Amino acid sequence: MLIRRPPDIRPSDITSEENYLNRRDFIRAGAVVGGSILAPSAMAAIVPEAHGAKLGDVARSKYSTDEAPNSFEDISTYNNYYEFGTGKADPYKNAQDFEPRPWTLTVEGHAEKTGTFDFDDFVKPFDLEERIYRMRCVEAWSMVIPWVGISLAEVVKYLRPTSKAKFVAFETLNDPSRMPGQRRRSLDWPYREGLTIAEATNPLSILAVGLYGQVLPNQNGAPIRLVVPWKYGFKGIKGIVRMRFTEKQPKTSWNMAQAREYGFYANVNPRVDHPRWSQARERRIGSGLFASKQPTLMFNGYGEEVAHLYKGLDLRRNF
Ligand code: MTE
Repeated sequence: MLIRRPPDIRPSDITSEENYLNRRDFIRAGAVVGGSILAPSAMAAIVPEAHGAKLGDVARSKYSTDEAPNSFEDISTYNNYYEFGTGKADPYKNAQDFEPRPWTLTVEGHAEKTGTFDFDDFVKPFDLEERIYRMRCVEAWSMVIPWVGISLAEVVKYLRPTSKAKFVAFETLNDPSRMPGQRRRSLDWPYREGLTIAEATNPLSILAVGLYGQVLPNQNGAPIRLVVPWKYGFKGIKGIVRMRFTEKQPKTSWNMAQAREYGFYANVNPRVDHPRWSQARERRIGSGLFASKQPTLMFNGYGEEVAHLYKGLDLRRNF
C-alpha cells in the first residue's frame, strides 16, 4: 500500500525508512568507536508543521530497544484511533485531511504553571529524543516503534505540580467537525487517560511528536500523544489538548466503557488475562501470517525501570 504524502513537502524533507535505519547504524557505530552515546543536545524542540517533515536534531536515548522496528507502513496504517473510526485502517483513511495546527494545550489543576499554551511554545523548552519502544496492545498484538518525543518527567517538572497533585489526567481534542468518529458514541468523548505522578515522572514516559525521524502522522496522534511502553497501548492517548493535575484518580475512557475489562493501571501483565482472551502471548505485527506468537513479558519487558512503582500493589486487583 502506498502512503499518500501531501504535496507541500519536498521528497528531500523526508527520511526514508532505509536512510533512517542506516543513520541509526551510523550512530550506533559512532557510539562504539567513541565509547559513549550522543549526549542530548541543548537544542530546543522544534516541530515543523508540514505533514511528514523531517525533525531536526534528535538525540538517541539509552532507553531504546535494539529490536528491529516495524515498518513505517505497519505503524501508520494499522491503528486504533476511534475519533477517526473503529476499524484498523480507518485512522489512516480518515485522518489524512485533519489539520493538527494551530493547536493548544491547556494545563489545569494543582500546578504552579497553568494556562493555555500554543503547541510550539509547549514543546520548545525540551530536547527531542529518539525512543525505540515495544508497544503491546491490550488486543494481544505488538509492534516496535521508533518514536521521537520529549520526556514527560521534564514536562511535569517544568509545570511544577504542587504537593496536592497525585495524578495527571489527559484529554484528547473533542471536535466532531474535525474528528468524524466522534459523531458516533463508540466512546464517551473526549478520550481520557491518566497516570500517577510517579508514573508520569518515570524516565520511560514520553510525549511523542514524531516517529521514524519525522513529524507524527495524524493517525498516530498528531501533534502530540502519550507513550508509556510498560502499559497497554490504550494508555497512550493521542491528540492531547488538556493536562490536569489532580488529587483524585481521574476517570479514563476504557475503564468508563468497560470497568471489568480495562483498569486504570493497565500494566502489561501476561499473568492477568483479559476476561475474554489470554494475555500470555502476542502477535508481532509484520512477522508474517504463519509466525508463531511470542510470549508477553511482564511490564512489556520494562520491569527494571518500573517494577518499583508497584511494590506492595496487588496487580491482579489493580489491573
Ligand atoms: N487515543 C485516542 N484519543 N483515541 C483512541 O481511540 N486508541 C488507543 C491509543 N490512544 C486511542 C488513543 C489504543 S487502543 C491504542 S492500542 C493506541 O492508541 C494505538 O496507537 P497507534 O495507532 O499509534 O499504534
